[in-house]
Amino acid sequence: MRLKDKVSIITGGGGGMGRVAALMFAAEGAKIVVAEFSDAAGQETVRLVREAGGDATFVKTNVADEASAKAMVDHAIATYGRVDVLYNNAGIMPEADHSVIDTSVEDWDRVMAVNVRGVFLGCKYAIPPMVAQGSGSIINIASFVALIGCSNPQDAYTASKGAVLALTKSLAVQFAPKGVRTNAICPGPVETPLLMDWLVKDEEAKRIRLARNPTGRFGKPEEIVAMGIYLASDESRWTNGAAMVVDGGITVNYF
Ligand SMILES: NC(=O)c1ccc[n+]([C@@H]2O[C@H](COP(=O)([O-])OP(=O)(O)OC[C@H]3O[C@@H](n4cnc5c(N)ncnc54)[C@H](O)[C@@H]3O)[C@@H](O)[C@H]2O)c1
Repeated sequence: MRLKDKVSIITGGGGGMGRVAALMFAAEGAKIVVAEFSDAAGQETVRLVREAGGDATFVKTNVADEASAKAMVDHAIATYGRVDVLYNNAGIMPEADHSVIDTSVEDWDRVMAVNVRGVFLGCKYAIPPMVAQGSGSIINIASFVALIGCSNPQDAYTASKGAVLALTKSLAVQFAPKGVRTNAICPGPVETPLLMDWLVKDEEAKRIRLARNPTGRFGKPEEIVAMGIYLASDESRWTNGAAMVVDGGITVNYF
């Protein structure tokens, strides 16, 4: 087992890639803290993990809220005694987020609150106990849109993921000397509710995205989580500050 007894907080663990991460991490022996906004979705992930023979607990969490982020880490420590992995996966991509010229300040702030402040707060409270125990792995889910421009813009989301990448590097430099590694994953478009709920409605947007991807298909959640397992495990002990691109090659495609 690659993650035996590693206590892993998975934010957004009730949805798309977060639920798959909970199940795959648990199958590798991790103890899972499902930190999720939706009670029903979070509880369902816990049920699925336990049904598969794994160990999981739920803590209702709004990653954008400081008291809630602190309670998330406190819950992990009260339940399992430590935190080994923080998988900062919760993120939003509202349909109203488009170009800067037609995105409202409210939508911009909402995206930043979850996607950037959420990562900041998780790190703020999870890093001190990791430093105290001399080990830990922070995994921030960014996106391929932090690396290349898009003529079909989502500017708040794009800026938020760029911020996540920059923060990843700063944390990697600060805390690796204390045993805590920080890395990011940049997934390409993956078949999850977040993407498919609005993309599938627009056949042209779907066609353009698929045409750009050398593999000719969207990614699958487990293909992203496989990278997460590597970064959470001791196999990646010398991987720090990296932006791991898992995108089928979309970011290296000029035409
Ligand atoms: N799907 C893609 O194509 C894709 C591509 C690149 C990056 N990503 C990133 O991967 C991550 C997961 O995406 P997904 O597609 O699985 O999303 P999803 O919408 O399927 O699931 C996200 C989960 O996060 C939860 N959540 C939302 N706001 C929250 C909050 N404030 N506090 C706690 N939980 C909250 C939701 O309830 C949901 O369960 C996100 O950070 C997303 O930006 C997704």
